[in-house]
Amino acid sequence: MNADLYPYPLLHRHRRNRKNAAIRALVSETQLHVSDLVYPVFITEGTQQKEAIRAMPGVYRLSLDLLVKDLEILVKNGLQAIAPFPVVPEHKKTKTATEAYNPHSLISNAISLIKKEFPELLLMTDIALDPFNSDGHDGIVGSQGEIQNDSSVEVLCKMALMHAASGADFVCPSDMMDGRIGAIRKALDLAGFENTGIMSYSAKYASAFYGPFREALSSAPKSGDKKTYQMDPANSREAILEVSADIQEGADMVMVKPAQSYLDIISKINAQFDVPIAAYQVSGEYAMLAFAIEKGVLHRENSILESLLSIKRAGARMIWTYFTKELIEKKLCAF
Ligand code: PBG
Repeated sequence: MNADLYPYPLLHRHRRNRKNAAIRALVSETQLHVSDLVYPVFITEGTQQKEAIRAMPGVYRLSLDLLVKDLEILVKNGLQAIAPFPVVPEHKKTKTATEAYNPHSLISNAISLIKKEFPELLLMTDIALDPFNSDGHDGIVGSQGEIQNDSSVEVLCKMALMHAASGADFVCPSDMMDGRIGAIRKALDLAGFENTGIMSYSAKYASAFYGPFREALSSAPKSGDKKTYQMDPANSREAILEVSADIQEGADMVMVKPAQSYLDIISKINAQFDVPIAAYQVSGEYAMLAFAIEKGVLHRENSILESLLSIKRAGARMIWTYFTKELIEKKLCAF
């Protein structure tokens, strides 16, 4: 040690705790585990269907037979939860989104089939009208182009009941209508589904990063945007209001979405509330990484892991990510 080099004795050499892999592992605060992951999947009608999605390299729309094949391997290797999103053909979409609660639809078949094949796999199902609504909005669009709150909540309740009856473990309202958590909780309880949980997309921002998802499902709004119901990316205080309202109304878990541009929101909610927090690494966040990786600009495994570790470090208890399959197949997380 060169005693003349420093103006004071160098007591702390932080690099001592980083000097090799063993000490780094010993002091590591955050690990990604397979049980942290929720796998969002796009499902489509028919059999033997595997359609690439232009905006999401490596992600496919799968028919149920092929999805079940994938899940067999993933569940065997520790996958705990999936979130299926249906592609709905244009001719089944209406202004009142009746297909959303059709008990003989692609999503209801998917829920009951997956529950039958994999009883232990948690099914977290999306509750919002956009894939079923000819207007492409999460709620019902009124005559002035406004998104109606209360009539939308009525349909969302029917949808949640259908999902619960089909076998969903958690219904996950992603629509951002006011009061929907309380209404859905009441509807579920009255129908005897008191053990069906609610994972609320509480702090859901009006984000450009949902673009690839809307392309995958052809579910983009036909007119206008979602800013009258999804939150303004400029704001964090209303995230607290949304989360506390949803917890009071009966949410078992809350979500922050997107994840990577909203780590501050995850962290604030984690500091203030005690319910488990989910964070959704959304389609645009996936696409940014996937395209940069494809171009050779980013290191594949390292950039994927860093993105997810950051979300967990911020305070997310679970992460919804399209990388789930790859993480399990390549054994990139702990098991
Ligand atoms: C439906 C819904 C959306 C996403 C999840 N559920 C789209 C939207 O709100 O426009 C986006 C997920 C993603 O981008 O990966 N309301």
